[in-house]
Amino acid sequence: MENFVFHAPTEIYFGKGQIENLSKILGNYGKNVLLTYGGGSIKKNGLYDKVYEVLKDFNIVELAGVEPNPRIGTVRKGIELCRENNIDVILAVGGGSTIDCSKVVAAGYYYEGDAWDLVKDSSKITKALPLVTVLTLAATGSEMNKGAVISNPETNEKLGTTAKAMAPRASILDPEYTYTLPTIQTAAGTADIMSHVLENYFKVTETAFLQDKISEGILKTCIKYCPIALKEPSNYEARANLMWASSLALNGLCGSGKAGSWTCHPIEHELSAFYDITHGVGLAIVTPRWMRYILSEKTVDKFVDYAVNVWDLEMEEDKFALANKAIDKTERFFAECGIPMNLGKLGIDDSLLEKMSHAVVVHRDLQSAYVPLTEEDVLNILKMCL
Ligand code: NZQ
Ligand code: ZN
Repeated sequence: MENFVFHAPTEIYFGKGQIENLSKILGNYGKNVLLTYGGGSIKKNGLYDKVYEVLKDFNIVELAGVEPNPRIGTVRKGIELCRENNIDVILAVGGGSTIDCSKVVAAGYYYEGDAWDLVKDSSKITKALPLVTVLTLAATGSEMNKGAVISNPETNEKLGTTAKAMAPRASILDPEYTYTLPTIQTAAGTADIMSHVLENYFKVTETAFLQDKISEGILKTCIKYCPIALKEPSNYEARANLMWASSLALNGLCGSGKAGSWTCHPIEHELSAFYDITHGVGLAIVTPRWMRYILSEKTVDKFVDYAVNVWDLEMEEDKFALANKAIDKTERFFAECGIPMNLGKLGIDDSLLEKMSHAVVVHRDLQSAYVPLTEEDVLNILKMCL
Protein backbone atom coordinates (compact mmCIF):
# COMPACT_ATOMS: atom_id res chain seq x y z
CA MET A 1 0.00 0.00 0.00
CA GLU A 2 1.28 3.48 -0.85
CA ASN A 3 1.64 6.23 1.78
CA PHE A 4 -1.35 8.52 2.06
CA VAL A 5 -3.03 11.28 4.02
CA PHE A 6 -6.73 10.70 4.63
CA HIS A 7 -8.77 13.78 5.41
CA ALA A 8 -12.57 13.70 5.25
CA PRO A 9 -13.67 16.66 7.35
CA THR A 10 -17.35 16.85 6.35
CA GLU A 11 -19.84 16.23 9.12
CA ILE A 12 -22.58 13.92 7.81
CA TYR A 13 -26.17 14.12 9.04
CA PHE A 14 -27.68 10.98 7.59
CA GLY A 15 -31.31 9.91 7.59
CA LYS A 16 -34.93 10.99 7.74
CA GLY A 17 -35.67 14.43 9.11
CA GLN A 18 -32.04 15.54 9.46
CA ILE A 19 -32.96 18.83 7.80
CA GLU A 20 -34.26 19.94 11.21
CA ASN A 21 -30.57 20.42 12.14
CA LEU A 22 -29.99 22.90 9.34
CA SER A 23 -30.52 26.09 11.30
CA LYS A 24 -28.18 24.90 14.06
CA ILE A 25 -25.50 23.99 11.50
CA LEU A 26 -25.74 27.25 9.53
CA GLY A 27 -25.97 29.28 12.73
CA ASN A 28 -22.34 28.38 13.39
CA TYR A 29 -21.32 30.58 10.47
CA GLY A 30 -23.73 33.53 10.41
CA LYS A 31 -27.15 34.70 9.27
CA ASN A 32 -26.55 35.63 5.63
CA VAL A 33 -26.98 32.59 3.46
CA LEU A 34 -26.53 32.07 -0.27
CA LEU A 35 -28.95 29.32 -1.24
CA THR A 36 -27.90 27.59 -4.47
CA TYR A 37 -30.01 25.15 -6.44
CA GLY A 38 -30.60 23.81 -9.93
CA GLY A 39 -33.40 24.00 -12.44
CA GLY A 40 -36.29 23.68 -10.03
CA SER A 41 -36.61 20.05 -8.92
CA ILE A 42 -36.45 21.22 -5.29
CA LYS A 43 -39.46 23.45 -5.86
CA LYS A 44 -41.48 20.55 -7.25
CA ASN A 45 -40.72 18.14 -4.43
CA GLY A 46 -41.23 20.53 -1.53
CA LEU A 47 -37.63 20.72 -0.35
CA TYR A 48 -37.37 24.40 -1.25
CA ASP A 49 -40.32 25.27 1.00
CA LYS A 50 -38.92 23.09 3.77
CA VAL A 51 -35.58 24.93 3.64
CA TYR A 52 -37.36 28.30 4.01
CA GLU A 53 -39.45 26.94 6.88
CA VAL A 54 -36.38 25.70 8.77
CA LEU A 55 -34.40 28.87 8.03
CA LYS A 56 -37.07 31.45 8.90
CA ASP A 57 -34.60 33.44 11.02
CA PHE A 58 -31.96 33.71 8.27
CA ASN A 59 -31.43 36.19 5.42
CA ILE A 60 -31.49 34.16 2.24
CA VAL A 61 -30.19 35.23 -1.15
CA GLU A 62 -30.62 32.82 -4.08
CA LEU A 63 -28.45 31.56 -6.89
CA ALA A 64 -31.00 29.56 -8.87
CA GLY A 65 -30.65 27.67 -12.13
CA VAL A 66 -27.28 26.00 -11.66
CA GLU A 67 -26.94 23.84 -14.79
CA PRO A 68 -26.13 20.13 -14.91
CA ASN A 69 -22.42 20.35 -15.88
CA PRO A 70 -22.27 23.71 -14.07
CA ARG A 71 -20.84 26.61 -15.97
CA ILE A 72 -18.20 29.13 -15.05
CA GLY A 73 -20.60 31.99 -15.83
CA THR A 74 -22.90 30.78 -13.04
CA VAL A 75 -19.96 30.56 -10.67
CA ARG A 76 -19.09 34.19 -11.45
CA LYS A 77 -22.70 35.21 -10.80
CA GLY A 78 -22.61 33.44 -7.43
CA ILE A 79 -19.40 35.19 -6.39
CA GLU A 80 -20.97 38.57 -7.18
CA LEU A 81 -24.03 37.70 -5.09
CA CYS A 82 -21.84 36.72 -2.14
CA ARG A 83 -19.91 39.97 -2.30
CA GLU A 84 -22.97 42.19 -2.75
CA ASN A 85 -24.80 40.56 0.17
CA ASN A 86 -22.02 39.91 2.69
CA ILE A 87 -22.73 36.21 2.60
CA ASP A 88 -21.52 34.20 5.63
CA VAL A 89 -22.25 30.69 4.42
CA ILE A 90 -23.36 28.90 1.23
CA LEU A 91 -26.13 26.31 1.32
CA ALA A 92 -26.20 24.05 -1.74
CA VAL A 93 -29.40 22.06 -2.18
CA GLY A 94 -29.18 19.60 -5.05
CA GLY A 95 -26.91 17.20 -6.86
CA GLY A 96 -23.22 17.31 -7.72
CA SER A 97 -23.61 20.20 -10.15
CA THR A 98 -25.11 22.55 -7.58
CA ILE A 99 -22.56 21.49 -4.97
CA ASP A 100 -19.59 21.84 -7.34
CA CYS A 101 -20.70 25.27 -8.50
CA SER A 102 -21.06 26.33 -4.86
CA LYS A 103 -17.58 25.10 -3.99
CA VAL A 104 -15.97 27.33 -6.58
CA VAL A 105 -18.22 30.25 -5.62
CA ALA A 106 -17.03 29.74 -2.03
CA ALA A 107 -13.39 29.81 -3.11
CA GLY A 108 -13.86 32.57 -5.67
CA TYR A 109 -15.22 34.90 -3.00
CA TYR A 110 -11.69 35.28 -1.66
CA TYR A 111 -9.92 35.39 -5.03
CA GLU A 112 -9.32 38.67 -6.80
CA GLY A 113 -8.84 37.34 -10.32
CA ASP A 114 -11.27 35.44 -12.54
CA ALA A 115 -12.80 32.28 -11.06
CA TRP A 116 -11.74 30.19 -14.09
CA ASP A 117 -8.14 30.56 -12.80
CA LEU A 118 -9.19 28.49 -9.76
CA VAL A 119 -10.50 25.71 -11.98
CA LYS A 120 -7.33 25.62 -14.04
CA ASP A 121 -4.99 25.88 -11.07
CA SER A 122 -6.17 24.64 -7.69
CA SER A 123 -3.04 25.96 -5.94
CA LYS A 124 -4.65 29.41 -6.24
CA ILE A 125 -7.39 28.30 -3.82
CA THR A 126 -6.32 29.28 -0.34
CA LYS A 127 -9.55 30.05 1.45
CA ALA A 128 -13.29 29.52 0.94
CA LEU A 129 -16.59 30.54 2.49
CA PRO A 130 -18.12 27.73 4.58
CA LEU A 131 -20.32 25.41 2.51
CA VAL A 132 -23.16 23.21 3.75
CA THR A 133 -25.07 20.87 1.45
CA VAL A 134 -28.41 19.08 1.28
CA LEU A 135 -27.92 16.24 -1.19
CA THR A 136 -30.69 15.22 -3.60
CA LEU A 137 -28.89 12.80 -5.91
CA ALA A 138 -26.65 9.85 -5.04
CA ALA A 139 -23.82 10.10 -7.56
CA THR A 140 -20.76 12.29 -7.39
CA GLY A 141 -19.62 12.13 -3.79
CA SER A 142 -19.20 15.92 -3.95
CA GLU A 143 -21.16 16.10 -0.69
CA MET A 144 -18.15 14.65 1.14
CA ASN A 145 -15.09 15.58 -0.88
CA LYS A 146 -12.89 18.49 -1.90
CA GLY A 147 -13.40 18.35 -5.65
CA ALA A 148 -15.47 20.40 -8.09
CA VAL A 149 -15.91 20.07 -11.83
CA ILE A 150 -16.78 23.17 -13.86
CA SER A 151 -17.48 23.66 -17.56
CA ASN A 152 -16.43 26.50 -19.79
CA PRO A 153 -18.64 26.32 -22.88
CA GLU A 154 -16.61 29.02 -24.64
CA THR A 155 -13.50 26.85 -24.70
CA ASN A 156 -15.16 23.40 -24.62
CA GLU A 157 -13.34 22.65 -21.41
CA LYS A 158 -14.68 20.75 -18.42
CA LEU A 159 -12.07 20.58 -15.69
CA GLY A 160 -11.79 19.42 -12.10
CA THR A 161 -10.21 21.34 -9.26
CA THR A 162 -9.52 20.18 -5.72
CA ALA A 163 -8.83 22.04 -2.48
CA LYS A 164 -9.23 21.27 1.20
CA ALA A 165 -10.94 24.62 1.74
CA MET A 166 -13.82 23.63 -0.54
CA ALA A 167 -14.88 20.51 1.38
CA PRO A 168 -18.42 20.97 2.72
CA ARG A 169 -18.45 21.65 6.47
CA ALA A 170 -21.58 19.53 6.79
CA SER A 171 -23.90 17.60 4.48
CA ILE A 172 -27.45 16.49 5.10
CA LEU A 173 -28.13 13.13 3.48
CA ASP A 174 -31.81 12.31 3.69
CA PRO A 175 -32.48 9.44 1.26
CA GLU A 176 -36.14 10.52 0.97
CA TYR A 177 -35.02 13.54 -1.06
CA THR A 178 -33.96 11.20 -3.85
CA TYR A 179 -37.43 9.63 -4.28
CA THR A 180 -38.37 12.15 -6.99
CA LEU A 181 -35.37 11.50 -9.23
CA PRO A 182 -36.09 10.71 -12.88
CA THR A 183 -35.11 7.06 -13.54
CA ILE A 184 -32.28 8.07 -15.85
CA GLN A 185 -30.69 10.16 -13.06
CA THR A 186 -30.94 7.28 -10.58
CA ALA A 187 -29.27 5.01 -13.12
CA ALA A 188 -26.65 7.55 -14.21
CA GLY A 189 -25.87 8.39 -10.60
CA THR A 190 -25.30 4.72 -9.84
CA ALA A 191 -23.03 4.38 -12.87
CA ASP A 192 -21.05 7.34 -11.55
CA ILE A 193 -20.68 5.78 -8.09
CA MET A 194 -19.57 2.50 -9.66
CA SER A 195 -17.10 4.28 -11.90
CA HIS A 196 -15.52 6.13 -8.95
CA VAL A 197 -14.91 2.78 -7.33
CA LEU A 198 -13.74 1.04 -10.52
CA GLU A 199 -11.25 3.81 -11.32
CA ASN A 200 -9.54 3.00 -8.04
CA TYR A 201 -10.12 -0.77 -8.10
CA PHE A 202 -8.20 -1.06 -11.37
CA LYS A 203 -4.97 0.62 -10.33
CA VAL A 204 -1.30 -0.29 -10.46
CA THR A 205 -0.97 -0.77 -6.68
CA GLU A 206 -1.97 -4.35 -5.98
CA THR A 207 -1.42 -4.46 -2.23
CA ALA A 208 -4.36 -2.40 -0.98
CA PHE A 209 -6.49 -5.46 -0.20
CA LEU A 210 -8.67 -3.61 2.30
CA GLN A 211 -9.53 -0.79 -0.12
CA ASP A 212 -10.42 -3.37 -2.76
CA LYS A 213 -12.75 -5.21 -0.37
CA ILE A 214 -14.47 -1.94 0.54
CA SER A 215 -14.75 -1.21 -3.19
CA GLU A 216 -16.28 -4.60 -3.92
CA GLY A 217 -18.84 -3.96 -1.17
CA ILE A 218 -19.81 -0.62 -2.68
CA LEU A 219 -20.11 -2.14 -6.15
CA LYS A 220 -22.30 -4.96 -4.86
CA THR A 221 -24.45 -2.38 -3.06
CA CYS A 222 -25.02 -0.50 -6.32
CA ILE A 223 -25.78 -3.71 -8.23
CA LYS A 224 -28.27 -4.81 -5.59
CA TYR A 225 -30.06 -1.55 -4.91
CA CYS A 226 -30.16 0.42 -8.16
CA PRO A 227 -32.72 -1.94 -9.78
CA ILE A 228 -34.83 -1.78 -6.62
CA ALA A 229 -34.75 2.03 -6.56
CA LEU A 230 -35.70 2.10 -10.24
CA LYS A 231 -38.67 -0.19 -9.66
CA GLU A 232 -39.73 1.31 -6.34
CA PRO A 233 -38.54 4.95 -6.26
CA SER A 234 -39.67 5.37 -2.63
CA ASN A 235 -37.87 2.31 -1.28
CA TYR A 236 -35.99 3.83 1.67
CA GLU A 237 -33.56 0.95 2.10
CA ALA A 238 -32.48 1.15 -1.54
CA ARG A 239 -32.17 4.94 -1.55
CA ALA A 240 -30.27 4.95 1.76
CA ASN A 241 -27.74 2.39 0.59
CA LEU A 242 -27.17 4.20 -2.70
CA MET A 243 -26.79 7.53 -0.96
CA TRP A 244 -24.16 6.33 1.47
CA ALA A 245 -22.41 4.48 -1.37
CA SER A 246 -22.17 7.81 -3.21
CA SER A 247 -20.31 9.44 -0.33
CA LEU A 248 -18.01 6.52 0.49
CA ALA A 249 -17.06 5.90 -3.12
CA LEU A 250 -15.30 9.24 -3.45
CA ASN A 251 -14.32 10.54 -0.04
CA GLY A 252 -10.83 9.04 -0.22
CA LEU A 253 -11.71 5.73 1.40
CA CYS A 254 -11.29 3.56 -1.71
CA GLY A 255 -8.59 5.51 -3.50
CA SER A 256 -6.14 6.23 -0.68
CA GLY A 257 -3.00 4.11 -0.84
CA LYS A 258 -3.44 3.30 -4.51
CA ALA A 259 -1.21 5.03 -7.05
CA GLY A 260 -1.97 6.14 -10.58
CA SER A 261 -4.42 8.21 -12.53
CA TRP A 262 -8.01 7.55 -13.64
CA THR A 263 -9.05 6.76 -17.19
CA CYS A 264 -12.80 6.72 -17.85
CA HIS A 265 -13.46 10.03 -16.09
CA PRO A 266 -10.92 11.98 -18.18
CA ILE A 267 -12.48 10.50 -21.33
CA GLU A 268 -16.06 11.20 -20.18
CA HIS A 269 -15.24 14.76 -19.15
CA GLU A 270 -14.32 15.52 -22.77
CA LEU A 271 -17.59 13.99 -23.95
CA SER A 272 -19.58 16.22 -21.64
CA ALA A 273 -17.34 19.23 -22.39
CA PHE A 274 -18.14 18.94 -26.10
CA TYR A 275 -21.70 17.58 -25.95
CA ASP A 276 -23.02 18.55 -22.48
CA ILE A 277 -24.19 14.96 -21.80
CA THR A 278 -25.05 13.49 -18.40
CA HIS A 279 -21.80 12.48 -16.69
CA GLY A 280 -23.00 9.06 -15.47
CA VAL A 281 -24.42 8.16 -18.88
CA GLY A 282 -21.08 8.89 -20.53
CA LEU A 283 -19.29 6.77 -17.93
CA ALA A 284 -21.65 3.83 -18.41
CA ILE A 285 -20.92 3.92 -22.13
CA VAL A 286 -17.14 4.29 -21.82
CA THR A 287 -16.44 1.91 -18.92
CA PRO A 288 -17.19 -1.51 -20.49
CA ARG A 289 -15.42 -0.49 -23.74
CA TRP A 290 -12.37 0.61 -21.77
CA MET A 291 -12.45 -2.70 -19.89
CA ARG A 292 -12.46 -4.68 -23.15
CA TYR A 293 -9.66 -2.54 -24.52
CA ILE A 294 -7.30 -3.05 -21.58
CA LEU A 295 -8.02 -6.74 -20.95
CA SER A 296 -4.71 -8.56 -21.44
CA GLU A 297 -2.46 -11.22 -19.93
CA LYS A 298 -1.29 -8.51 -17.51
CA THR A 299 -4.72 -7.40 -16.31
CA VAL A 300 -6.76 -10.57 -16.55
CA ASP A 301 -6.26 -11.65 -12.92
CA LYS A 302 -7.78 -8.42 -11.65
CA PHE A 303 -10.77 -8.98 -13.92
CA VAL A 304 -11.09 -12.48 -12.48
CA ASP A 305 -11.32 -10.94 -8.98
CA TYR A 306 -13.92 -8.52 -10.32
CA ALA A 307 -15.90 -11.37 -11.90
CA VAL A 308 -15.93 -13.58 -8.82
CA ASN A 309 -16.11 -11.02 -6.00
CA VAL A 310 -18.40 -8.43 -7.56
CA TRP A 311 -20.56 -10.36 -10.03
CA ASP A 312 -20.57 -13.68 -8.14
CA LEU A 313 -19.49 -15.58 -11.24
CA GLU A 314 -18.16 -19.14 -10.81
CA MET A 315 -14.40 -19.49 -11.07
CA GLU A 316 -13.44 -21.22 -14.31
CA GLU A 317 -10.23 -22.33 -16.00
CA ASP A 318 -10.38 -19.94 -18.93
CA LYS A 319 -9.56 -16.65 -17.24
CA PHE A 320 -10.28 -14.57 -20.33
CA ALA A 321 -13.71 -16.11 -20.77
CA LEU A 322 -14.49 -15.28 -17.16
CA ALA A 323 -13.17 -11.72 -17.50
CA ASN A 324 -15.28 -11.19 -20.61
CA LYS A 325 -18.36 -12.46 -18.81
CA ALA A 326 -17.81 -9.87 -16.08
CA ILE A 327 -17.44 -7.11 -18.67
CA ASP A 328 -20.63 -8.31 -20.41
CA LYS A 329 -22.40 -8.25 -17.05
CA THR A 330 -21.24 -4.67 -16.46
CA GLU A 331 -22.53 -3.54 -19.85
CA ARG A 332 -25.82 -5.41 -19.49
CA PHE A 333 -26.37 -4.00 -16.01
CA PHE A 334 -26.16 -0.41 -17.24
CA ALA A 335 -28.40 -1.22 -20.21
CA GLU A 336 -31.00 -2.88 -17.96
CA CYS A 337 -30.98 0.22 -15.76
CA GLY A 338 -32.18 2.11 -18.83
CA ILE A 339 -28.98 3.87 -19.87
CA PRO A 340 -28.54 4.35 -23.63
CA MET A 341 -25.34 2.43 -24.23
CA ASN A 342 -24.01 4.00 -27.45
CA LEU A 343 -22.82 7.50 -28.23
CA GLY A 344 -24.97 7.39 -31.37
CA LYS A 345 -28.06 7.21 -29.17
CA LEU A 346 -26.99 10.55 -27.65
CA GLY A 347 -26.61 12.11 -31.09
CA ILE A 348 -22.81 11.90 -31.02
CA ASP A 349 -21.07 10.88 -34.24
CA ASP A 350 -17.40 10.47 -35.10
CA SER A 351 -16.80 14.08 -36.14
CA LEU A 352 -15.18 15.30 -32.91
CA LEU A 353 -13.64 12.07 -31.64
CA GLU A 354 -10.12 13.07 -32.62
CA LYS A 355 -10.44 16.48 -31.04
CA MET A 356 -11.73 14.93 -27.81
CA SER A 357 -8.99 12.28 -27.73
CA HIS A 358 -6.39 15.00 -28.10
CA ALA A 359 -8.01 17.06 -25.33
CA VAL A 360 -7.94 14.05 -22.97
CA VAL A 361 -4.17 13.70 -23.17
CA VAL A 362 -3.64 17.45 -22.97
CA HIS A 363 -5.73 17.74 -19.81
CA ARG A 364 -4.82 14.50 -18.06
CA ASP A 365 -1.83 12.23 -17.59
CA LEU A 366 -2.95 8.84 -18.86
CA GLN A 367 0.59 7.50 -18.77
CA SER A 368 0.27 6.72 -15.07
CA ALA A 369 -3.08 4.97 -15.49
CA TYR A 370 -3.63 1.29 -14.67
CA VAL A 371 -2.94 0.60 -18.34
CA PRO A 372 -1.19 3.67 -19.82
CA LEU A 373 -3.08 5.07 -22.79
CA THR A 374 -2.01 7.24 -25.72
CA GLU A 375 -4.18 9.61 -27.72
CA GLU A 376 -4.64 6.85 -30.29
CA ASP A 377 -5.82 4.42 -27.59
CA VAL A 378 -8.40 6.94 -26.42
CA LEU A 379 -9.61 7.38 -29.98
CA ASN A 380 -9.93 3.61 -30.38
CA ILE A 381 -11.97 3.38 -27.16
CA LEU A 382 -14.24 6.25 -28.25
CA LYS A 383 -14.80 4.54 -31.60
CA MET A 384 -15.87 1.40 -29.74
CA CYS A 385 -18.48 3.55 -27.96
CA LEU A 386 -20.20 4.76 -31.15
O1 NZQ B 1 -31.40 21.03 -11.62
P1 NZQ B 1 -32.53 20.32 -10.98
O2 NZQ B 1 -33.86 20.85 -11.34
O3 NZQ B 1 -32.35 20.19 -9.48
O4 NZQ B 1 -32.55 18.83 -11.60
C1 NZQ B 1 -31.44 17.96 -11.50
C2 NZQ B 1 -30.68 17.82 -12.80
O5 NZQ B 1 -31.50 18.02 -13.91
C3 NZQ B 1 -31.96 16.58 -11.28
N1 NZQ B 1 -32.20 16.26 -9.87
C4 NZQ B 1 -31.32 16.25 -8.86
N2 NZQ B 1 -31.91 15.82 -7.73
C5 NZQ B 1 -33.20 15.59 -8.02
C6 NZQ B 1 -33.40 15.88 -9.39
N3 NZQ B 1 -34.60 15.73 -9.98
C7 NZQ B 1 -35.63 15.31 -9.23
N4 NZQ B 1 -35.49 14.99 -7.91
C8 NZQ B 1 -34.30 15.11 -7.28
N5 NZQ B 1 -34.16 14.75 -6.01
O6 NZQ B 1 -30.95 15.72 -11.77
C9 NZQ B 1 -30.25 16.36 -12.82
C10 NZQ B 1 -28.78 16.15 -12.67
O7 NZQ B 1 -28.28 16.84 -11.54
P2 NZQ B 1 -26.70 17.05 -11.36
O8 NZQ B 1 -26.47 17.77 -10.11
O9 NZQ B 1 -26.14 17.61 -12.63
O10 NZQ B 1 -26.20 15.52 -11.28
P3 NZQ B 1 -24.96 14.88 -10.55
O11 NZQ B 1 -25.12 14.82 -9.10
O12 NZQ B 1 -24.76 13.61 -11.27
O13 NZQ B 1 -23.74 15.87 -10.86
C11 NZQ B 1 -23.05 15.83 -12.07
C12 NZQ B 1 -21.89 16.82 -12.09
O14 NZQ B 1 -20.91 16.50 -11.09
C13 NZQ B 1 -19.62 16.31 -11.70
C14 NZQ B 1 -20.00 15.84 -13.08
O15 NZQ B 1 -18.94 15.92 -13.98
C15 NZQ B 1 -21.15 16.75 -13.42
O16 NZQ B 1 -20.70 18.01 -13.79
N6 NZQ B 1 -18.79 15.44 -10.87
C16 NZQ B 1 -18.36 15.91 -9.69
C17 NZQ B 1 -17.48 15.21 -8.89
C18 NZQ B 1 -17.01 15.74 -7.59
N7 NZQ B 1 -17.32 16.96 -7.24
O17 NZQ B 1 -16.34 15.07 -6.85
C19 NZQ B 1 -16.93 13.92 -9.29
C20 NZQ B 1 -17.69 13.28 -10.40
O18 NZQ B 1 -16.88 12.32 -11.02
C21 NZQ B 1 -18.23 14.21 -11.43
O19 NZQ B 1 -17.28 14.55 -12.41
ZN1 ZN C 1 -17.87 10.75 -11.64
